[in-house]
This record gives sequence, C-alpha cells and structure tokens, in this order.
Amino acid sequence: MTDKELLNIAINAMEKSYSPYSDCKVGAALLCENGKVFTGTNIENAAFSPTICAERVAVFKAISDGEKKFSKIAVVGGKNGVINGIFAPCGVCRQVLREFCKDDFQIILGESKEEYKVVTLNDLLPLSFSPDDVR
Ligand code: THU
Repeated sequence: MTDKELLNIAINAMEKSYSPYSDCKVGAALLCENGKVFTGTNIENAAFSPTICAERVAVFKAISDGEKKFSKIAVVGGKNGVINGIFAPCGVCRQVLREFCKDDFQIILGESKEEYKVVTLNDLLPLSFSPDDVR
C-alpha cells in the first residue's frame, strides 16, 4: 500500500463525517502490519465533549477488531470538506497513537487531494509519555 493509496482512502472516509457543528470533515486511514486498513471519520455531538476525532475512530475500530500492530496512518480534513493544507492530529489523538505506535510511526498528512507530507509520531509528540513509562 503506497502513501498515496492510503491518503485516497482517508479522503473517501471524509465523506462519512458527521460534523454539523464545526462543518469540518476529517478522514483517517490506518494501515495495519498485516495489510488491513481501518478508516475513521469525526463524529460530533450536540453536547460537544462526546465528539470524537477521525484518528481515534480508526484506532479504536482496529483495536476492537483485535489489531494492534500499525504501519502508518493517513489523515486529511478541512472546513466543508475542502482540503486546504494539513489538518494536523490533535493532542489527544497523538497520545492515543503513542499508546500503540513507536516514535518512528509514520503519519501521512494530506495537503490537497494530490499532495501530502510524511512526518513521524516523534515529530508531532516529542518527549512523549508512553506505555514504557508505567511498566
Ligand atoms: N478533528 C479530528 O477529527 N481530528 C483531529 O485530530 C482534530 C479535530 C475533528 C473534531 C471536530 O469534529 C472537528 O475536527 C473540529 O475540531
């Protein structure tokens, strides 16, 4: 699976976004080491705090399906579904990714339908608190 293919899956996942409050549509596609892909989109709530991000939906779908080994994730989003630069994962999602992924885990950030940049989890969450710190 190429980075571009994973990005396209994330772009398609954006369409499922339930985001009537922010109008921000976000899509994520999480590639497992065994080749399976789990998608996620953001799901908002009238009470606001139950809202969940696309990245966490993808991770939690994978975990609840018994998958824990991840290769990379693609994330894309934008107001009204228009991709206009990167839609960086929030701090909570970075920490959730760190629970299951090492510092060198790759995150593909869509900048447009065609362009993307690749960063590591360490780039987004340096000096992270990880499961190793509580073992
Ligand atoms: N959102 C995500 O889905 N992922 C992130 O990492 C950042 C924010 C969503 C949550 C909410 O539905 C909307 O974007 C605006 O914050």
